Parts: sequence; C-alpha cells; structure tokens
Amino acid sequence: MAEIQKIAVLVSGGGTNLQALIDAQARGALGCGKISLVVASKPGVYALERAAAAGIEGRVLARKDFDSIAAYSAAMRDLLVGEGIRLVVLAGFMTILDEQLFEAFPYRIVNVHPALIPSFCGKGFYGLHVHEAALAKGVKVSGATVHFVTPECDAGPIILQKAVEVHEEDTPESLQLRIMREAEWKILPEAVRLFCDGRLEVRDNKVYKKS
Ligand code: GAR
Repeated sequence: MAEIQKIAVLVSGGGTNLQALIDAQARGALGCGKISLVVASKPGVYALERAAAAGIEGRVLARKDFDSIAAYSAAMRDLLVGEGIRLVVLAGFMTILDEQLFEAFPYRIVNVHPALIPSFCGKGFYGLHVHEAALAKGVKVSGATVHFVTPECDAGPIILQKAVEVHEEDTPESLQLRIMREAEWKILPEAVRLFCDGRLEVRDNKVYKKS
C-alpha cells in the first residue's frame, strides 16, 4: 500500500470546505491522504468544532499573538514541519503567510479560491468580496479554483477549476453558496486526492495530471 500523506488544513471560519474534506476522507475519496491536523488563525471558529467532531486534532495559532507576518509564518512553518505534514490545505484561511512557509512546502500548499482565476482574485478578493465583485461586473459564469500557493497572491499553478452559473437574482450570499455546493466542495477534495496519490506534476507554472 502507498504511504499515508499527512494533511494539515488551515482555517479561519465556518469550515465548510474542511467538512467536504472530512466527508471525502470518510468515504475513502482522499486516496493516500489523511487529515491529521486542523490549524485555526483565531480561537472559537466553527471549523474547530468540525475537526473535533471528526476526531481530528485542532490547534489555534492566533495571528494576534504575533507581531508580524514573518513571525507568524515562521511559527506556522515550525508547527507543520514538526508534525511531519506533507500537504497544507488553505480552506478559507484569511491570514497572509510569507515565503518562509512557501519555501518549506514548495508546491505542497493548495488554496481554494471562490472564482475562476485570473478573474476576481489577488489582494482584497476573499470571502463575500469576491462574489460582490462578480455580481458588480455582471458576469454570467463564475466558479472556483484550486491552485498551488506561491509567493504571489492567487497566482500559483492551477490544479482544478469548475464553472458555476450566475443568476440574475443572485445576492453575494446566494452566489457564494452555489459556488461552494457546485464547485468548491467537489474540486477541493478531488485536488487533494490527486496530490496525495502523486498524480500532479508542475512544469513551467502549469499543472499536468499523470495517469
Ligand atoms: C470559501 O468560499 C473559500 O473559497 C473562501 O472563503 C470561504 C471559506 O468558507 N476563500 C477565500 O476567499 C480565499 N481567498 P469555509 O470556511 O466555509 O470553507
């Protein structure tokens, strides 16, 4: 049997994407991946309850306890390296990390973004703001992207994308929910499985799937 790949999921909020990963693991859909740690950027977030309910260790590494992004990133790196983590998943993680983490986990950090990158991404585009911008532009299709994380915000190689229809009567909240249901909760576990089963290769900033 192939070696187990330890996964850490970093969260800041409700954790529905974490739940999708937990559910995928329960039905054997994460391949060799095993969620072994959930790290929250602040205490009291509901994602930690989801981790506890699934019997997964949850830790809080609070951004406010550190003076700088550099100090926070170093502490996060030390925690994840110390736990022998193979893959880091940013699942609604709303805190900026720096290159110390990216250098320790080259092409081993993935992020789920609630739009079709390169649309509606980069600095300031997170959570509901992304859907507000999509509705303000009047796009007819939006969606979600899972990509590798590199030092440039939302610019790393794209692993999977899925398009979702925008409806005329959508609010940011209704669009967010449809994109989560139809795209994020599907492509995030799928990308994690592909990674953990050694099926992803990065060449020239592009991701290729190995069969
Ligand atoms: C998700 O929609 C995720 O794509 C988004 O935050 C939400 C977190 O929800 N992430 C970003 O905007 C990152 N730029 P969740 O806590 O229920 O998974």
